[in-house]
Amino acid sequence: MLRKKIVKLIKDQVDLTADEIESLLEKPSDGGKGDYALACFKLAKKLKKAPTKIAVELAARLKPTGLIREIKSVAGYINFFVDPDKLVPLVMDEILKAGDQYGRSDVGQGKTVVIDYSSPNIAKPFGIGHLRSTVIGHSLYKIYTALGYRCVGINHLGDWGTQFGKLIEAFKQWGDSSDKDLTVSDLNNLYIKFHEAGQSDDSLKEKARQWFKKLEDGDPETTRLWSRFREISIKEFERVYRLLGVQFDHYQGEAFYNKFVEKTVQQLDQKGLLKLSAGAYIVDLKKYGLPPCLIKKKDEAALYATRDIAAAIHRAETYQFHKLIYVVGSDQKLHFRQFFKVLELMGYDWVRNCVHVDFGLVRFKGAKMSTRKGQTILLEDVLNKTIELSRKVMAERVPELKDKVTSGQAESITREVGIGAVIFNDLKNRRIKDTDFNWDQMLSFTGETGPYLQYTHVRLVSLRRKAEAAGIKMADPDAGAKTELLKLPAEIRLVKKFNDFSEVIQRAAREYEPSVVTNYLLEMASLFNRYYSEHRIISDDSALSQARLGLCRGLKHIMHHGLSLLGIIPLEEM
Ligand code: ARG
Repeated sequence: MLRKKIVKLIKDQVDLTADEIESLLEKPSDGGKGDYALACFKLAKKLKKAPTKIAVELAARLKPTGLIREIKSVAGYINFFVDPDKLVPLVMDEILKAGDQYGRSDVGQGKTVVIDYSSPNIAKPFGIGHLRSTVIGHSLYKIYTALGYRCVGINHLGDWGTQFGKLIEAFKQWGDSSDKDLTVSDLNNLYIKFHEAGQSDDSLKEKARQWFKKLEDGDPETTRLWSRFREISIKEFERVYRLLGVQFDHYQGEAFYNKFVEKTVQQLDQKGLLKLSAGAYIVDLKKYGLPPCLIKKKDEAALYATRDIAAAIHRAETYQFHKLIYVVGSDQKLHFRQFFKVLELMGYDWVRNCVHVDFGLVRFKGAKMSTRKGQTILLEDVLNKTIELSRKVMAERVPELKDKVTSGQAESITREVGIGAVIFNDLKNRRIKDTDFNWDQMLSFTGETGPYLQYTHVRLVSLRRKAEAAGIKMADPDAGAKTELLKLPAEIRLVKKFNDFSEVIQRAAREYEPSVVTNYLLEMASLFNRYYSEHRIISDDSALSQARLGLCRGLKHIMHHGLSLLGIIPLEEM
């Protein structure tokens, strides 16, 4: 709101668009340089004048009004200083009215964002490798939703490919044909067995090829078997999603797009993009410095990229998306560059709005995980182990919890602390960095962790009870907290930061970076914890107590909303 006001003020004086001004407006970290600063050196070229001169002249024409107390030019910058006496009551009024919806906006109204995330492969264990896509994708979904976009979450399961021919052959050879409950682990073992046996047995490979052909031709019995494998997998994956609190609007895996593949191939052919090379159909991308994009193999089987091309076209037609976001690890960078290029060559302008949101690896440290079979570290095991450790940490840190709540509540608190720790750990750094998975660190109550933020939230919640016990009514929007009494620098700083929240959410969306939110929350928590240790919230002065309680309540709203945007459930008690 404040930013918009300053942009308008400037816009009335210079010949620049609001967007241009917006891009020049910085937020100095040092308060002495104002609350906002306009970098004039970036205008020097356009206005053909020295930056210092621009700053001096322009500053002289800008008159402080409303919330702006002072405008100064300093070394090529124009610094804007906000009047806290006016800003504080205004922001406080806004936040107390909006509650934990504070920070939302409607900038995305009428626009659709499609997010492709998690997307594990069926009949394979859900490994730790798919944690990041799941958590980052889910958070982006929440962030875009808070900005008024309509979001569509798609789980692009890896549920098609020649490997299913192998799996079916393995099942026929060694599987248990009774209706006994098969698990993903059974399926994975069958697949491993096929590979061991298939090394020296070409007839096995040929049989697998035939099964896949049958599957592609829609043979009912083969399809039934494949469906069964798919359902078993989804059922297990959903256990993990439930633990993480993650949902999707659609499970539309690769197989879903099969029906569009033929048309896509024809289109590529008509546009003269298809080339036969070493018996396979490809799109040659040499001109663009990329390896060829493989469309179809000799035996006519379409490939991962082909289905991705068909899927993107289907999504464009179905949703007319404003953005199509793929949350997939950096190791697939090339794949995305290739098929985005192919879409561009096909003449699809909307490919500009397709984004590969990539991320680094999970480095596993700390306590040993026993892997059941093979090398995959199972995500479900990791999450359950985290909850178990969380139980231990909680018993040490907050032994009194069990006296305050029922055992069911204690159990769910323990779970949310553990899961929140995992999610926060994943989102706290810029996504491109590798993350360390270290239990001791992520479950610690101090430092940059989920439990630390949860604890801060709980502390803020508990202030209400303390106030009531002291006979002070906590400020509700209509209770008229005298927020003009908030005069301490620490208080003004907090309120100014409240006002940034909406911009923070927008930046997180623009950069596809939940870490923008995590960092903001950490900063808020540390400002608050310092304030809380230095000043008394509840005192004999009831008006001042109310004002301060109002401040704390505002912060609680921010913590609540912020944690929710990350996919973490804010706790009321712990
Ligand atoms: N199933 C793939 C994998 O596990 C990820 C799919 C990502 N989404 C996409 N549209 N390609 O590597």
